[in-house]
Amino acid sequence: MKKSVRAHAAEVIDALQNQQSNLDVLIRKHSRTLAENEKKFLQSVCYGICREWFHIQEIESLLLDKPLKARDQILSSIVRCGIYELGWMGSKEHAVVSEYVDVTVTEERPWARGLVNAVLRQFIRKKSELKMERHSAQTLWNHPQWLIDTIKISWPEHWEQVLVENNVHPPMTLRVNRRRQTRNDYLARIKALGIDAEQGSAADSVRLSRPLAVQSLEGFAEGVVSVQDESSQWASVILDPQNNERILDACAAPGGKTCHLLEMANSHIIALDISEKRLSRIKENLVRLGLRAELIAADASHIDSWWDQQHFDAIMLDLPCSATGVIRRNPDVRLMRSETSLKSLIGMQTMILDATWETLKVGGRLLVTTCSILPQENQHQIKKFLDRHKDAQLTAITNTPGINTEFGIQHLPTHSGGDGFFYSLLVKSEPSYDGVSA
Ligand SMILES: C[S@@+](CC[C@H](N)C(=O)[O-])C[C@H]1O[C@@H](n2cnc3c(N)ncnc32)[C@H](O)[C@@H]1O
Repeated sequence: MKKSVRAHAAEVIDALQNQQSNLDVLIRKHSRTLAENEKKFLQSVCYGICREWFHIQEIESLLLDKPLKARDQILSSIVRCGIYELGWMGSKEHAVVSEYVDVTVTEERPWARGLVNAVLRQFIRKKSELKMERHSAQTLWNHPQWLIDTIKISWPEHWEQVLVENNVHPPMTLRVNRRRQTRNDYLARIKALGIDAEQGSAADSVRLSRPLAVQSLEGFAEGVVSVQDESSQWASVILDPQNNERILDACAAPGGKTCHLLEMANSHIIALDISEKRLSRIKENLVRLGLRAELIAADASHIDSWWDQQHFDAIMLDLPCSATGVIRRNPDVRLMRSETSLKSLIGMQTMILDATWETLKVGGRLLVTTCSILPQENQHQIKKFLDRHKDAQLTAITNTPGINTEFGIQHLPTHSGGDGFFYSLLVKSEPSYDGVSA
């Protein structure tokens, strides 16, 4: 018998609780046998639960007489899906309860039919008060305590705004391929179709007032537009590619910045990514947009495995990071990250930074970006890099709005604007004999 979409939802949430993989990967895996409308349903239940994670967890613990055994964690996932649907999606009560009761059978826990039924019925009765109550900062903000504390310390004036923004639905922003159409012409084209949109802050960006399905976007298939947040678009504007420059995009997949750089100038781009699978996404984007780049699957931090000893004029270094600037797009980030995983990410960033720096020519520029709002991955990382590399000069970024930190520009997520992002521009100078820059 075909597994129900609600059983798939419970399994996705269960796998997330076990930190098996990220939300998008899990949803893709569980969508294979589903119809289009079921895929959309699965996505909205699972995304919604992640946004309300800590609040729903608290409600569940208030409804259960005693905690479930670890081996029955799937029951907790079933209950959470039911609570979310009943409390946030307005689904029909009877159908929701009876379908999640049936999921206990699919998940080989038929003995728990009564338990799931009782918990969900109790939730229906006490819904309004349970939704109002929030007993901790975690449930109030739907973030883990360590992250609330870190954001508070990092952004004492902005932390509440950041936490609020992380919980809202993000805007959908497009990048107009300036080789194919001007931004103004594209805006006029979609307005004529009744689509409400406005210019974004970055030169090629267009903000839609309501999200649309990507594949059916006007001009998408023919390579006139791509979907890319405006903060991400600022990266290529800051690096400012020139014709004939040899540019390395060191952590390139799925190729948002590679393609934007190529739309801006006739540069020769080497797009490198550790993931062969993700590299294929760059290829798809290049083909759709009518652009060309050299693609290499390799670990950027092991330059012996991929570098041909020809120095680059410029490097785009969009480092793997905590993604704490894009929690509103990837609500599972709040569950997948921890202080320990942050430390290992910082170590990986340091290795990639040090290695790729070697491949930059003297006088060349390297732009470090992250979609993180944590100083440990941003300002602190750059400060330590400058301490280690006396031939690195921090260069002021003057063409970009944002918070001027001592070591780069920080964007925090804003309601109608861009994601949280960090940019730091470094230029390589001639080393002097004592290793100090001339
Ligand atoms: C933030 S994403 C890059 C997004 C991309 N720049 C864009 O604009 O579409 C980071 C990428 O770094 C890649 N990555 C992680 N570790 C790497 C490494 N050691 N060497 C090269 N790429 C790496 C990941 O596979 C991921 O695709």
